[in-house]
Amino acid sequence: MKTISKGFFRFLQFSSTFALIVLFSGCNLDSRMSTFTPKGPIAQEQLNLFMLTVWVTGFIFLVVGGVFVYAIIKFRERPNDNRPLPSQGHGNPLVEIGLIGASILLLVIIAVPTLQAIWFTHDTPDDPESRMGAWYSGEELADEESENPLIIKVIGYQWWWAFEYPQLGITTANEMVIPAGKVVHLELRSVDVIHSFWLPKIAGKVDLIPGRTNSMWIQAGENFARWKEQQGLEGESESLRRDYATYLEEEIHDYYYGQCAEYCGDSHARMLFRATVIGDQEFARWVADEKAGHGTPDGKSWDAWYASYDQNPEQLTGDLNEGLKLFMGRAKCATCHKVQGNPRALGVAGPNLTNVGSRMSIAAGWLNHRAEDGTMDLEQQYENFFKWIKETDVVKPGNLMWKANGGGIGELLDAYGEPALLTDDEVHKISLYLKSLK
Ligand code: CUA
Repeated sequence: MKTISKGFFRFLQFSSTFALIVLFSGCNLDSRMSTFTPKGPIAQEQLNLFMLTVWVTGFIFLVVGGVFVYAIIKFRERPNDNRPLPSQGHGNPLVEIGLIGASILLLVIIAVPTLQAIWFTHDTPDDPESRMGAWYSGEELADEESENPLIIKVIGYQWWWAFEYPQLGITTANEMVIPAGKVVHLELRSVDVIHSFWLPKIAGKVDLIPGRTNSMWIQAGENFARWKEQQGLEGESESLRRDYATYLEEEIHDYYYGQCAEYCGDSHARMLFRATVIGDQEFARWVADEKAGHGTPDGKSWDAWYASYDQNPEQLTGDLNEGLKLFMGRAKCATCHKVQGNPRALGVAGPNLTNVGSRMSIAAGWLNHRAEDGTMDLEQQYENFFKWIKETDVVKPGNLMWKANGGGIGELLDAYGEPALLTDDEVHKISLYLKSLK
């Protein structure tokens, strides 16, 4: 044993310290996707369950490790050790039954709250203040809809997300918008392979499975009743309501980061999504914006625009008109993408592009143009659109937009059936047009 040199021990010491530093340098309890700073009841419930498990397993680790270390030190061989070998037993019924009992007890301590949490996250609560009729100030809803909470259908695609709002008749992609403090019922499904919905600060993870619909509920921030309970407050007054509104505004209104949490193919790691949590009135305005959609670049009616497009397209000039012509024609964008308002852009294979110019990221969150201070970085936004259209397969390997044209958007066929790349100038114009959709 003495042959192991001091140098070797130094090396061990150094390398283990180094490994620990590397390991923990990734830890930040308040990072964008930390589960340690929950912003809603589901994430809070999940954190509580996690901490309970940490305490129980930590206790087991200390007891077992402690006995182990004690035995190593107490019974180690000493120089000139003449003690006889202790008696060699083959089990001790008392110890064995005791350990089995203790294990069962510890498992029950974990299992009961786990089952409670599973039911808690699955059963959408009926909170009167979350019913659509109680907070949504947009256009009239059918009676049964106003009795329900907001419903969002989350649909997974390789590799992006569709968010449908069936009660409101709108669909968006990759950035969902929800009201603060309200219960939201999610229906999750997939059109291709298994994905998993994970919005760490608010809720997760539930799989999106082809051929079946899973459901869960989420809520950003607490409702009024639970917030009062947590603050140790009681009653109902205007000033309490104001304090609650301030809590939602300062702590909950935010831009949250999510991620697909189930390996789903080449670009799984690039299947991100975002959630914007806003106030009730802002939400109603957002819905109205989505429903209104977009007009033509020069303010003409769509009928007039398409009359020119069909008969004298050269009359439609300017970068935005050029971009829209490419969008509808040569680049074939409208085959797969819907733009609300535009009567001929009705594709459903790709993300809905209504108000895509208002989104803080594109390519399912992978190309980000939200500046540190939360504002839109317009230059970065342009670069992101350009990059995505120009080299979509580099940004997101294997994606459908690249495959759609038998090898890539870069290999569109021209009128004579010859491969014809979109030129940089064309990509530039389409980028400008997409940027204008806001
Ligand atoms: Cu979708 Cu991983």
